[in-house]
Amino acid sequence: MRTSLQDLRRRYRDGERLPMITAYDYTSAQLVERAGVPIILVGDSLGMVMQGNDSTLPVTVTDMVYHTRAVVRGSKTPLVVTDLPFGAYAIADDAVRNATRLMAEAGCQSVKLEGGRAVAPIVRRLVELGIPVMGHLGFTPQSVHQIGMRVQGKQVAAAKALIEDALALQEAGAWGIVLELIPAPLAAEVTRRLDIPTIGIGAGPDCSGEVQVWHDVLGLYEDFVPRHTKRFRTLGDEIVAGLGEYAEQVRSREFPTAANSAGM
Ligand code: KIV
Repeated sequence: MRTSLQDLRRRYRDGERLPMITAYDYTSAQLVERAGVPIILVGDSLGMVMQGNDSTLPVTVTDMVYHTRAVVRGSKTPLVVTDLPFGAYAIADDAVRNATRLMAEAGCQSVKLEGGRAVAPIVRRLVELGIPVMGHLGFTPQSVHQIGMRVQGKQVAAAKALIEDALALQEAGAWGIVLELIPAPLAAEVTRRLDIPTIGIGAGPDCSGEVQVWHDVLGLYEDFVPRHTKRFRTLGDEIVAGLGEYAEQVRSREFPTAANSAGM
């Protein structure tokens, strides 16, 4: 059975921290399941880490449906949250149509969208229609050209505004809020003020849970380790070594052998 929002609320009330990780395909979803992570985010970060774009902006709803379907097929127990991509929820009718598509066609159990008071009416509308919504505040990657790629909420006025945004999302019915790249004391204060979980990324140790991007925590990139992440493995090096060995054995005729072949 899939983790439900009710399960998550219970765990949150019991003080259990909530791990969340991105996944974008069938195989990685299976691995998340085996690791016992209770929440998968099919993030629009896929525009960068799967498609090679330099932002999340080119990602379409059709892309999100495609990746969510694969993740849902690959997992049985985690709650699957899918990002509504850039431009997919600016107008309430679009938000309803696109979120419905992600839930009904692709099979996620919640959508996530970026923004605070400005999107609260849209959050409310979706929730009224039975669509669970997660908010996303702080550095919101879909606004990168507006706000720049930097820590948000450092000034008092910005911090106050972020708290107001968080309260508005809670009031509108969001079940949880991602806090990305904000000072740790601000994340702690937002977490203290809310009755719903905060899931941090680059927001310090005091959120109700943490979300990270698959490629970052598994070390799939050669060089770049952003400060807000941690490499738990360096699988990029492992994969390169494995592929190198494979290619070498093909060249040297060490692989395949009779043991890998069928007879007549
Ligand atoms: O798209 C994504 O992966 C995200 C996380 C960084 C929170 O929104």
